Amino acid sequence: MKISALRPLPGSLVQFILFVPQTQTFAIPDAELQRLAVEAVFAKKFSGKKDELVPLIKGEKVCLLAGLGDKREAVNMRKMGLIAKNALQSKHLDVNKPVGLIPLWDSEAHIKAIVDGAKLGLYKWNKYIAQKEDEADYSSLEILIDTPYAEMAEREAAVCDGVNLARDLGNENADAADSLYLEKAILDIVKDDPRCMVKILNRKELEEKGLRLHLAVNQGSAKEPKLIIVSYKGGKDGDPFTALVGKGITFDSGGLNLKTTASMVDMRLDMCGAAAVIGTLRNALQLNLRRNVYFVCGLAENAIGPKAYKPGDVVVGYCGKSVEILNTDAEGRLVLADALSYMARNYKPDALIDIATLTGAVVVALGYEYTGLMTSDDNLANQLLAAAEATDDRAWRLPIYPELQEHVKSQFADIKNIGQPSCAGSISGGEFLRQFAQCDSESQKWAHLDIGGTGTLEKDLAYFKVGASGAGVRLFTEFLSR
Ligand code: BES
Ligand code: MN
Ligand code: ZN
Repeated sequence: MKISALRPLPGSLVQFILFVPQTQTFAIPDAELQRLAVEAVFAKKFSGKKDELVPLIKGEKVCLLAGLGDKREAVNMRKMGLIAKNALQSKHLDVNKPVGLIPLWDSEAHIKAIVDGAKLGLYKWNKYIAQKEDEADYSSLEILIDTPYAEMAEREAAVCDGVNLARDLGNENADAADSLYLEKAILDIVKDDPRCMVKILNRKELEEKGLRLHLAVNQGSAKEPKLIIVSYKGGKDGDPFTALVGKGITFDSGGLNLKTTASMVDMRLDMCGAAAVIGTLRNALQLNLRRNVYFVCGLAENAIGPKAYKPGDVVVGYCGKSVEILNTDAEGRLVLADALSYMARNYKPDALIDIATLTGAVVVALGYEYTGLMTSDDNLANQLLAAAEATDDRAWRLPIYPELQEHVKSQFADIKNIGQPSCAGSISGGEFLRQFAQCDSESQKWAHLDIGGTGTLEKDLAYFKVGASGAGVRLFTEFLSR
């Protein structure tokens, strides 16, 4: 799909969508279509109410009137995006011809929502479906938007390509999208870009350097564990680096604490944190973001077998802290613990931010619409929340407080990898991570995004399809742009 912005739209277009706020008067630059529009309004078929969609057809000309609702209401970007998606999916449009979009509610948020609705809403994961004939193929659809926010619209379309890349990586089969595949995806993006340097710790280096928690998680797997660090220098010499660290469990069986059938079925998506980091990497390069960033992926597979790590094991992590592993299904925090302490100690980033499908409990707390944000730094929290708000890649802050240290106290080790039963599951996970990110100094700025709900959708949600949503990519891209 190609989205460009052009004002005025070329006269050769024969397909339009007119986005009309409630009670707004409008004119269509075509006498016959205008007459049909007037008829529709008089017949009370169209008044601009939310979700109204009225086709006007004259010969080969098609104009869809899409209602946007009351202009006095705040723009709900998700609803607006859904309206755009539904309009573009109208059976009256021919996907082989370009479509002109004319938003009569021309706010920046609104244009962004339309682009998101088109790019993210028409995304499909249908690689393995043989019968695709009766479905429209939007991959070559050309969209022209009539807006003064041309640059912003085209930039947003580029950002969405990064989101959809993350979704493709997430949705792919677990055995196909393994650590080698993700390494290749990263190298394909970076190629020989002079702004980037790639460092890969494979099994041998992980052993030499002592990332034993990461290795423990991968112990039962035939796949290769990897920690991949891309240094991207888009900023000036001496500018601080931000580190984005993604959980990349390419399949989470739960390990010996085996998951149930229902909870295991989506676990190819347990690398969506890493996928979000990769999607953001792509965007940083594409948009030439003026920031210094470490893009980091901790990759492993949580499998069962004779070599698998075991409940009750105590393992000493990279930073020297020992962990009592009371549940092999709390594996993401183990891989991240080593990655975070490795980054903190050796790279000392200005801010260390991880993103992970860390807990099912975050769904209980926040549902599928809001990512859980945890951090002990108010400034960092506000920056991330502002980026979330601006992009509609939503996040909500959950607290991290000193008493949580009790929840992860162990009898036999420095810390344990689960909290108290049925109690504060997401934030005790956050507290666990904090203790590794800040292993050397409490002044290490750190934040954690739990996309256990938002990243892996169990069913369609607003304009998103079931499966990987690419949560975090828009948020991070915006955060790095500011
Ligand atoms: N990857 C899961 C969390 C998850 C569940 C993400 C469902 C997305 C959808 C994680 O590794 C996990 O298994 N967490 C456990 C933690 C528990 C053992 C402390 C959980 O949430 O049950
Ligand atoms: Mn798990
Ligand atoms: Zn997991």
